[in-house]
Order: sequence, then C-alpha cells, then structure tokens
Amino acid sequence: MSVTTQAEWWRAAVIYQVYLRSFADRDGDGVGDLPGLLGRLDYLRELGVDAVWLSPFHPSPLADFGYDVSDYEAVDPAYGTLADFDELVHAAHERGIRVLIDLIMNHTSVAHPWFAESSSDRAAPKRDWYIWADPRPGNEPPNNWLSSFERCGPAWTYHPETRQCYLHSFTPGQPDLNWRNPEVRAAMRRVWRFWLDRGVDGFRIDVAHRLLKDAGLRDNPAELAHARRHTVHPTLRMRNLDLPETLQVLRELRRTLDEYGGKLALGEVPISDDRRLADYFGGDGMHTAFHLAFWEQPWQAAAFRRTVDGLAAAMRPGALPTYALATHDIPRSASRYGAARARVAAMMALTLRGIPCVYYGEEIGMTDAPPPDALDVDGRDGQRTPMQWDATGLGFTAGKPWMPFAPGQAEVNVAAQQDDPGSLLRLYRRLIAYRRASPALRGGDYRSVEAGDDVFAYLRSAPGERLLVALNFASRPAAAVLSGLPGEGLAEVSTGDRPAGSAVGLRPLRLAPGEGLIIRIEEGT
Ligand code: NOJ
Repeated sequence: MSVTTQAEWWRAAVIYQVYLRSFADRDGDGVGDLPGLLGRLDYLRELGVDAVWLSPFHPSPLADFGYDVSDYEAVDPAYGTLADFDELVHAAHERGIRVLIDLIMNHTSVAHPWFAESSSDRAAPKRDWYIWADPRPGNEPPNNWLSSFERCGPAWTYHPETRQCYLHSFTPGQPDLNWRNPEVRAAMRRVWRFWLDRGVDGFRIDVAHRLLKDAGLRDNPAELAHARRHTVHPTLRMRNLDLPETLQVLRELRRTLDEYGGKLALGEVPISDDRRLADYFGGDGMHTAFHLAFWEQPWQAAAFRRTVDGLAAAMRPGALPTYALATHDIPRSASRYGAARARVAAMMALTLRGIPCVYYGEEIGMTDAPPPDALDVDGRDGQRTPMQWDATGLGFTAGKPWMPFAPGQAEVNVAAQQDDPGSLLRLYRRLIAYRRASPALRGGDYRSVEAGDDVFAYLRSAPGERLLVALNFASRPAAAVLSGLPGEGLAEVSTGDRPAGSAVGLRPLRLAPGEGLIIRIEEGT
C-alpha cells in the first residue's frame, strides 16, 4: 500500500504527532532521531494512521525546543541528515503514511543568519526583516505587548548595539519576522517550496494567527494589557495577533499548496472564540485547524457537547476541525482525566466529525512526568518524555535518554499492551480500523442528541450507514433516554468489555460506568 494521489486525503485521515526528540533514538545519543522514526514506521502502519506530523527538526539553539529555527533548509545533526529525511518520506509513503512538518513562520531563532544581519546595523539591508522599534525612555519596551510565556515578561528586548528593541512573541531567542516586508514573504515561499519539492504532504502551521501585527505597533487596549495569548473581549481586539491581514498570507500559502495538489495546511490557531477560529480554515485559507477549546474542557458530557457543537455551528459548510487530546504543549489525557476516562476520550476523538490527531504515547496511556528539571521555558517537559516502547527503555534508546521516562513505564508500554486485547493500544487500533472502514465516521454528518447529564451522544451518518456514539462521562451506570431512535441497535466497539455484535436496547440506552459505545442503527428501523 502506498500513498494515493487523492486530493482531499486528509478529510478521512488520522494524524499522529511525533515529538521527534522523544520518539525513537537510533544512534544511541539519547535523543530521538529520523532513523529511529523510520524504524518505527511499521508500528505506525499497524496502528493505522494516515499521516505523521513531525515536530521541528531544523538546527536550533533550543530556546524553545526547535521552535527557534536557525536554518529552515537543514536537519539538525542530532536528528540526522537531509538524506535521512528523504529516506523517511520515501519509506513512509511506501507504507501509505504521509508526512507533515512543522512550519514556523512567525519567528526565527536569534541564531538565524537573517537575524544576525538584521541586528548588525540599523542600516542593514535586512533590518526590516524583523520588527524593530525605539524604546521608551529608560530603554523601556515600545508598547505594552507581552510575550506569550509568563517567564519572558514583555514581548520586547532591548538591543544595546543598535539601541532599539526587537519584538518576540515568545522567548527573546525567537525574534518575530516582519510579514509586512515582501522580501520576508518571498524568503518564506522558498522555504515552503524547498520542503514541498522534497515530497512533504503538508504543514502544521505554528501560531498561524500571529503572523501580522498592528502596523503602528499601538498598545493593546488597557482592558487587554494583561493578555499573553488571544483573549476574548466583547468589543475590543488585540493588536499583536489575529489581524485580518494574516489571512492573506495564509491564502498565499494555500495557493502554493494547491499548485502541488494533495497537500495539507493544518493550522495551530490558539483562539477559543469559535467565530474567530472558524475564519482561519475551510475556505481558501488553511484546510483545517486545531480545536483549542476542546482540550480546555472539564470532564463533563455537557461541556464537550457544547464546545463541539459550538465550533460546528460557527464553521464554514464542509469545514473540518482537528481534534487532539494532547500535544507537546498540552498535558496528556491520561493525566488530565485518568486512565479509564482516557479510553472514552479516545473514542470521542476518533469518532467526532473532524480530523483526529494522536499525540505519540497517547495510544498507550502515557502520563505526564511530574515537572522535571524545567528544561522548557513554559514548563511543558512533563508531556514530552520518551516513548515507552518497553519496560526497560531500551526500545527508545541504548544510551541515556535526554529526559527521564515518565512514571509507570513498567506497565504502560507498547510491548506490554500489544498482545493484550483489553489494552488501550488495542482499543486505539480497533477504533482507527473501524473508522477507516466506516463511511459515517470517515466522512458523514454529525448531530449531537440529548442524552441526559452524564452522556455525550451523537449520530454520525452517511448514505447507507448510521452510527450512534454514546459516551458515559460519569463513573456510575447511565440510562440515557434518547428520542427519535429505534428500540434497538447493534454494539460495534465498546471501551468496556461488551462484545461486538451484541444487541443494545435504546429505550433507554444503558451504559456501564465510564463506558463509551459505538452502536450501529440498522437502516429502516
Ligand atoms: C506553538 C508551539 O506548539 C509551541 O511549542 C511553541 O512554544 C510556540 N508555538 C512558539 O513557536
């Protein structure tokens, strides 16, 4: 099986996020690498995923673990070589797996030659490639914009050599590019093409909503002066993110992707306002974007129903959001919800109308490590621990892992779960395989149905197939009264031990504590 030429392959895809540093280490230096990932492609094929999204692998001083790029057209030696990358893409494609890479366009590293040139002199030809401004008296920041990271304070750093400040929406090691400069746009277009020409199948676009900032660098309104990230206000807008002009850049990216055909733009748009988020995808901009509010919900059926329905109502017709239970920025689901609920969460993410994106290790229920020695500027180390291939750790590296394993490795690992039919890994495989074979899950409609306080229930339907997904969020049995459904359906997949193929009464629908269930509703009943 190899990748098809189907243009909209992503509509029915399951994506798997590989945090490369922590996935699989081939050369024994304790850092995951491209050859290590190559050696695990068969595992991913067996899991059933259609695409991998690779975290940044470019040369980087690691001020923000690779989100500070010093060369967009190279591979950091810690991860391998460009030849390794090409081999990976080839081997993945042979197995029917597409490869997405992280595109970090809002900022570079201070170590990027563009910034070296820009900061060398006020008259440097590349001065305007970044955002420079005179300080206020006392070398104070030019305006009240804040870095997204609390630890970094203001979004400006004074540069004594040229007596101006540069803007950094993240760490001082990540100066923001000036997207109002056509040369920057042209340089970044070359980067897109560099990777598209190498055969990548698309990009995950880092902080896509931040590319443009207020041209006059005006202060954020006083009411929003505390805001480090997008903050919803009934009338006021922030001036350092989510500007309408940003959509033009994303459209341009889309046009380039369309020239190639079959390429995906998946946006990271950390905006929890449904209407604002909906503008970024599904039209002539990016194809899809992560549903941020999804992972902010408390473990309550009503909360998830509200957020899923909210974005569904705001989206353009035909648009698809991307659902992730965790990422390298978001604590793991087994830590947030607990091991049992992680099974229900998995069923939800893999059966909603949208593109599921599985963070490595979620499929075995890895938990976060207690905050280790704070390598990351924003305290996100806990969810970035090495993949638990086995109880010894040798499956990850023969050397000393760059970061300790999370607790629980002895039980929570691939080797222990792959032959255990009751394991989370086997549930993931079953759900992904089921989804792949189901027209209703792959591409059908979605409609949530009233099912009482404890149960989030929805219908997925396509011509010839109707499925009811019912998720009991409570740790007590549920008896959900559903209207407009026949008296009985057929159990397909349960997160518990209910056998597939057994009849399920729907008046009421009885679920075990914390059970998630996919039920086939026979046509004509
Ligand atoms: C979002 C990335 O996911 C995160 O890890 C990073 O710190 C910021 N963007 C800045 O690039």
